[in-house]
Amino acid sequence: MTNSHVRHVLVTGASSGIGEALARDYARAGHRVTVVARRLDRLEALAASVTGTMKCISADLSDPANAEGVVAQAVATFGPVDVLLNNAGAQIVSPFEGVSPDDGEMTLRLNLLTPLRLMHAVLPSMQARREGAIVNIASVAGLVPTPGMAHYCASKAGLAFASESLRGELRGTGVVVVTVYPGPVDTAMMRAAVAKMKAETTLADRMPAGDVDTLSKLIRSAITRKQSRVIYPHVYGATRWFAPMAAAITGRLTPVPKA
Ligand SMILES: NC(=O)c1ccc[n+]([C@@H]2O[C@H](COP(=O)([O-])OP(=O)(O)OC[C@H]3O[C@@H](n4cnc5c(N)ncnc54)[C@H](OP(=O)(O)O)[C@@H]3O)[C@@H](O)[C@H]2O)c1
Repeated sequence: MTNSHVRHVLVTGASSGIGEALARDYARAGHRVTVVARRLDRLEALAASVTGTMKCISADLSDPANAEGVVAQAVATFGPVDVLLNNAGAQIVSPFEGVSPDDGEMTLRLNLLTPLRLMHAVLPSMQARREGAIVNIASVAGLVPTPGMAHYCASKAGLAFASESLRGELRGTGVVVVTVYPGPVDTAMMRAAVAKMKAETTLADRMPAGDVDTLSKLIRSAITRKQSRVIYPHVYGATRWFAPMAAAITGRLTPVPKA
């Protein structure tokens, strides 16, 4: 879909990192942007820092029941959603026995079940209008099973497969689905993971990492060009073509941090 067709962009997890960069870039380009996260103060600071129109919604997306309400508020303010950016996410880096089942299931609800609910909430209107874009921020960890991240890998693999499945289903309908597979990208989430891994290996902070501004640009361009997927930093693209080898190497070499 071209930029002139994008009127309303909904970004989850816009209070920091990748979501914040996407929301800022769309607002600066003149689009109406709804931003969602728990930290309202950070969303409001973001809205105050850009000249565009932004609607801030504080919501805990680890409860999928909140998804419909978020979309209803967004639509009531700015009209139908043209671009849904399913970005909010959380990561647990820990040996499996150190993860409480409740925390593990929270990761699955936030990273997988709520994005599916949000897709259900926006899709009928997109299909009726025969235009729209759904972007799902998965992870290279959804392509390559990584020790110490069982729940995170499960959630991201689930989201990636749902996203790629939906893309095929919607071919020819005017609605595009883009699946994004970030490798390490410099954000609070990445820095927390590296800090945990660092205790076990010196390789942790030498892995190629990207930045949020470049990723935002790639995602916005993928929507315009109706690309199926974005893998960034590009070096991690090899993990998709050589998945069994990447899984074997990662499974053997990744140290599991202490709980
Ligand atoms: N950075 C990387 O290396 C990397 C790699 C692969 C995939 N990803 C994915 O990229 C996405 C963005 O991550 P990031 O790196 O930008 O991390 P980040 O800076 O930690 O941002 C995470 C965002 O998710 C929101 N969020 C977390 N829990 C939430 C909840 N319960 N309800 C609503 N919002 C919630 C946070 O907002 P509040 O805390 O204010 O609620 C924040 O805005 C995630 O899905 C992540 O899995 C990141």
